[in-house]
Amino acid sequence: MTADGLLLRRPRPSDAALVHRGTHDPLVREFLQAVVPHRDTAAAERWLAEVPPLLWRTGRAAYFTVEAVETVKAVEAVADPEAGPGDGELIGWAELVNIDPEGESAEVAVWLLPEHRRLRTAKAALRLVCRFGFERLGLGRIDAYAAADNMPSQLTGAAIGFRRAGYRPGAFRSSRTHRLHDAVYATLVPEDLC
Ligand SMILES: CC(C)(COP(=O)(O)OP(=O)(O)OC[C@H]1O[C@@H](n2cnc3c(N)ncnc32)[C@H](O)[C@@H]1OP(=O)(O)O)[C@@H](O)C(=O)NCCC(=O)NCCS
Repeated sequence: MTADGLLLRRPRPSDAALVHRGTHDPLVREFLQAVVPHRDTAAAERWLAEVPPLLWRTGRAAYFTVEAVETVKAVEAVADPEAGPGDGELIGWAELVNIDPEGESAEVAVWLLPEHRRLRTAKAALRLVCRFGFERLGLGRIDAYAAADNMPSQLTGAAIGFRRAGYRPGAFRSSRTHRLHDAVYATLVPEDLC
């Protein structure tokens, strides 16, 4: 899917440098649970070849690479699946996890490489991955858990229509320090996406 100069596509082994950097980023490791810092790009490449395709196949999670592309290139890449990655700059990652087909729900998370933060790009990336969930997976609700001290994440969600739905003390463990974070729980339904 593409919008706002971004292309959301399935990850490929050639995205290893992005994934290696992202999984070593202190904020990604602080604010996402169960992030495994790959030893090197070869390890990230092996992980990319095996894990995301398996999760996609089994319907348990949908992982995406986020690329910054010019609109024309993005449209071409979507129209022609053989066309390659869209020739864009790899800037981040988005995922729908805990996909529940019966409850028609999933949980979303997004990270961007540090040099692509504070540019309002996160909203566009989050909007795209939520659109994928609603339009392609038929979800009726997408949940997000942001650490209480992760304001950029909470503000990004609120900006595209997530509504605060609760507060969960000790909801998840930092991948970096293993300390428990309290989380703000927010939820999005298709009618609210903006
Ligand atoms: C969460 C993340 C994707 C947000 O992306 P971003 O590019 O930093 O977001 P933006 O710059 O668009 O900022 C979003 C909002 O937070 C605000 N903000 C940014 N940094 C902030 C900070 N340190 N303190 C308070 N507010 C901040 C921005 O002003 C903006 O609000 P506004 O639109 O009302 O002005 C990015 O910070 C990231 O990758 N973080 C590490 C991984 C992570 O925490 N992922 C989310 C897990 S749930």
